[in-house]
Amino acid sequence: MLATPLRIFFVWLSHRRWMARLAMGVPLVRRLAHRFVAGTTLDEAIAVVRALNARGAMATLDVLGESVVDRPSAEAAATSYVTTLDRIAAEGLDANVSLKLTQMGLDLGVEACLEVLRPVVEAGSRHGIFVRVDMESSDYTDRTLEVVRRLRADGCDVGAVLQSYLKRSRTDAAALAAEGCRVRVCKGAYAEPESIAYHDRAEISRSFVDCMVTLLEADAYPAAATHDAEVIAAVQAAAAERGIGKDRYELQLLYGIRRDIQDRALAQGHRLRIYVPYGAEWWPYYMRRLAERPANVMFFLRGLFGGR
Ligand code: FDA
Repeated sequence: MLATPLRIFFVWLSHRRWMARLAMGVPLVRRLAHRFVAGTTLDEAIAVVRALNARGAMATLDVLGESVVDRPSAEAAATSYVTTLDRIAAEGLDANVSLKLTQMGLDLGVEACLEVLRPVVEAGSRHGIFVRVDMESSDYTDRTLEVVRRLRADGCDVGAVLQSYLKRSRTDAAALAAEGCRVRVCKGAYAEPESIAYHDRAEISRSFVDCMVTLLEADAYPAAATHDAEVIAAVQAAAAERGIGKDRYELQLLYGIRRDIQDRALAQGHRLRIYVPYGAEWWPYYMRRLAERPANVMFFLRGLFGGR
């Protein structure tokens, strides 16, 4: 995992709109980001999903965008999701969607966000397609879980994400497991203080496996979202020890990362879903992928200054 100052720096960069405007205009930066982003259009993303389905993997489509502060932009983002859901259904693809609530106007208030989300969850229900609500920084954890719970109380097929670096997540996992909520467990991609988050890799992994075990035992069809081979092996072992079949949970990985693990999971007969982001607003997502790994930063810098 990346040293904290670098991680903090890249997560900070992810929120800088002026930097995004500057960098996103540079064709070379766009090409480098392409490693993690399926494209800027729905057509490009759909082509990736088709190829994944042909390999035996499922997908979750993310229309990139976050931190939207006005209602028309939030509604435009919601419309993009409805179009995406309609297209998944029309093409009969094995895919669902993942979205961020700050893209759906969470900063305008929980009620406004629920209103903006309504057409998206209705399209999901119409097509029988699950909608996953991603988890953002800890400022949003409570509000995000509140929105998920309120939608579920209305009968919507939505699920949540828990970040194992947060010390609260074991407790959240137990509560969501009791409610039968579908949860994706990941390590967490933001820069959180030690008062609320583990910074030690082993602690984060332990919390990850504990959350997964709680959700597996509740038979809540959880997803283990990590590229960490040791954590994946620990989850697989925990499930096998409890007699929990491979059909009762998913492994999830991000597009463009660890194709070797993807292939192995499929060969072992696991249900595998790849997170496929697309759209024009790729800057924050790309910065978080750089924040995760010094090697990515070196690759980025070599790409920029190495005369490619
Ligand atoms: P870790 O960082 O320890 O990496 C393990 C190995 O994976 C590395 O050694 C390397 O080989 C590979 N790897 C990891 N990151 C890489 C990268 N960026 N580039 C290249 N190789 C890399 N976070 C969040 O806060 N909210 C969310 O909603 C989600 N949603 C989500 C969905 C899915 C499907 C995945 C896989 C991940 C997320 N995340 C997320 C991101 C997650 O929190 C975490 O930041 C990344 O998955 C990186 O952590 P790993 O678990 O892979 O472990």
